[in-house]
Amino acid sequence: MSTVKSIAVIGAGTMGSGISLTAATSGISAFQIDVSQAQLDKAKAYHAKTLGRSVEKQKMTQVDADAALARITYLTDMAGAKAADWAVEAATENIELKKKIFQAMNATFGPNAVLATNTSSISITDIATAVGASASRVIGMHFFNPVPIMKLVEVIKGLATSEETTQRTIDLAKAMGKTPVPANDRAGFVSNRVLMPLINEAFHAWMEGVAKPEDIDQIMLLGCNFPMGPLRLADFIGLDVCHDIMMVLYRELGNPKFFPCPLLRQLVQAGRLGDKSGRGVFDYGKK
Ligand code: CAA
Repeated sequence: MSTVKSIAVIGAGTMGSGISLTAATSGISAFQIDVSQAQLDKAKAYHAKTLGRSVEKQKMTQVDADAALARITYLTDMAGAKAADWAVEAATENIELKKKIFQAMNATFGPNAVLATNTSSISITDIATAVGASASRVIGMHFFNPVPIMKLVEVIKGLATSEETTQRTIDLAKAMGKTPVPANDRAGFVSNRVLMPLINEAFHAWMEGVAKPEDIDQIMLLGCNFPMGPLRLADFIGLDVCHDIMMVLYRELGNPKFFPCPLLRQLVQAGRLGDKSGRGVFDYGKK
């Protein structure tokens, strides 16, 4: 059973705001931290909208929704969250940025707090080098988008992660209504090592004219029972995020099969990043 009462979530993007909401609806207080006030405002609006929808659909009472929202504190400074007994980083996939954030987390949170990262592909062992002797409390806790809906948490131990840190992560994931599944610390872990080549191949099939993008997706939706076609999913994840994960896989595993398809690279260069920019493979209307 998890004893975690409050968590600090560093980064208020799609993943961070999903993690803080899921904590709050599970009865855990959440400090939602981001250097950008605009990003925090966006996260708060997402929280209020999602809880409001749950009330409308009678999946939650207004009292419970209000209580969940009241459990989230929005902060631009990590120091205000130092009482949290858990911290999870959900910033962009950039190793130098993550190391900086981990140094700050190590200095801010008490010695018993676990320092987790929601990285989707970067080595936990590498991130943990930022905190020196505290590496035993660093772990990968990889959530999936949309966090409130997706059941999986991929749990990744770095070389120095302790058994206690691992067990506490498993317990917290369960307390948040998730199913924790272990994976080892190799680039992309299991989820993205398997998912990204599938997405990349869909781009290659499109580039080679095997089928139109909507037909590639329709084939995978109807023929393989995917909830979203691979190209729609790429837009949903973010084409830049897919590209960056593929580059981590390519560099770390040294296999050209992971190198991003030229068409994917071109869309990213053109700023067509998917849902978040209003256009990616498909057009969602200008943002
Ligand atoms: N936040 C909260 N709830 C959300 C949501 C969000 N962002 N998006 C959808 N939902 C909820 C809806 O409110 C709805 O709830 P109810 O059942 O209570 O009505 C439910 O999810 C289903 O949504 P919809 O009816 O609108 O649409 P859908 O049935 O098409 O489902 C989906 C949407 C859940 C996103 C589904 O299409 C799906 O599962 N897609 C695949 C998602 C996926 O593969 N995610 C993993 C991406 S990889 C990743 O995240 C990790 C990485 O490292 C890249």
